[in-house]
Amino acid sequence: MKNYRIAVIPGDGIGIEVMREGIKVLESVSQLTGDLQFSFDHYDWSCEYYAKNGVMMPKDGLKRLEAYDAILLGAVGYPGVPDHISLRELLLEIRQGFDQYINLRPIKLLPHVQCPVIGQTPETVDMVFIRENTEGEYAGAGGIFRETSPEACAVQSSIFTRRTTEKVMRYAFELARKRGKYHKLTSVTKSNALNYSMVFWDHIFDELASEYADVQTEQCHVDAMAMYMIQRPQDFDVVVASNLFGDILTDLGAALQGGLGFAAGANINPERKYPSMFEPVHGSAPQIAGRGIANPMAMIWTVKMMLDFLGHESYGECVLSAMMKVLADPNAITPDLGGKGTTASVGDAICRQLHML
Ligand code: NAD
Ligand code: IPM
Ligand code: MN
Repeated sequence: MKNYRIAVIPGDGIGIEVMREGIKVLESVSQLTGDLQFSFDHYDWSCEYYAKNGVMMPKDGLKRLEAYDAILLGAVGYPGVPDHISLRELLLEIRQGFDQYINLRPIKLLPHVQCPVIGQTPETVDMVFIRENTEGEYAGAGGIFRETSPEACAVQSSIFTRRTTEKVMRYAFELARKRGKYHKLTSVTKSNALNYSMVFWDHIFDELASEYADVQTEQCHVDAMAMYMIQRPQDFDVVVASNLFGDILTDLGAALQGGLGFAAGANINPERKYPSMFEPVHGSAPQIAGRGIANPMAMIWTVKMMLDFLGHESYGECVLSAMMKVLADPNAITPDLGGKGTTASVGDAICRQLHML
């Protein structure tokens, strides 16, 4: 019997709602397999916590998370607390503090899900983004100077270290080698304008490309990439991008796969020196929070990614199969997909399917 200790941070808004379903699914997996157990410790670090305590998490927050096998996070951010505080002091603090420099985000259209781009199918929309997750524009370096004067200016520096850039690219090349599609890696760049950071990025990419000669490579400027992802998503297999570009393009990718309700993600520290954190791509969606209609598929797919990471890919595949069975029933799905299902009814239906597999 393998017992995993999981830290659960539901966060805010629909983060709390979809987390319940993610945990339900893990409990079903545990019951079904009989050889996996999860013990969940819940942490109420969130905007509500901030309102009470003036901080998003306690000072020793990272220390308290350090010994877990994994962290599950719902979503953070709610009106009333400025986003740069809620996100920097919790989500980004964990990603950066635990050196989770890989952000793995699959973009895959599942059967029965409508793609807004005409003619796309599960065969044509099937790629994985590797987003650098600790540096770039998110490094937090800069300042606002003389804000009240007419000479006011703001500087937001982006930082690219060789160490992290190279590790992220190697991870992406290795994945392109492993994935069965085209053994192809696309690097997102913008070296026509960003003459330091992206030129540096391109040099490292070129260097590694000659080491991974069996992997087909392509370099696309981020603006063109946004267009190509709509025009010819079938051409992309593994994509590597800097933090900000990866952030933007993975929301575009989410649209291709049927919306943010499907976009799953993993923040990985590949050395396993620190715990990795699993969270859907979407936010706390204040407009729909509290109504029980958020699509929990992204969270449940995220749970599948956690199972994969823990070495239980076959159980991960079962979760994905159960999701696909539920998607086949137009009455079962949530309103974002045109159905009348609720967050809880979708979670329940997936658990029922798991028990029938
Ligand atoms: P959002 O992802 O919360 O919502 C964008 C749109 O997608 C909204 O229309 C929302 O209703 C819809 N949506 C998102 N997830 C959905 C789901 N599971 N089912 C159905 N519809 C879904 O992004 P936003 O509105 O830009 O941000 C809201 C808050 O969340 C902000 O505070 C933001 O900073 C934060 N945020 C947090 C995370 C995170 O914690 N990982 C990620 C993104 C945004
Ligand atoms: C994401 C989110 C975060 C990011 C925000 C909320 C800080 O948009 O996980 O994609 O930009 O990384
Ligand atoms: Mn984002």
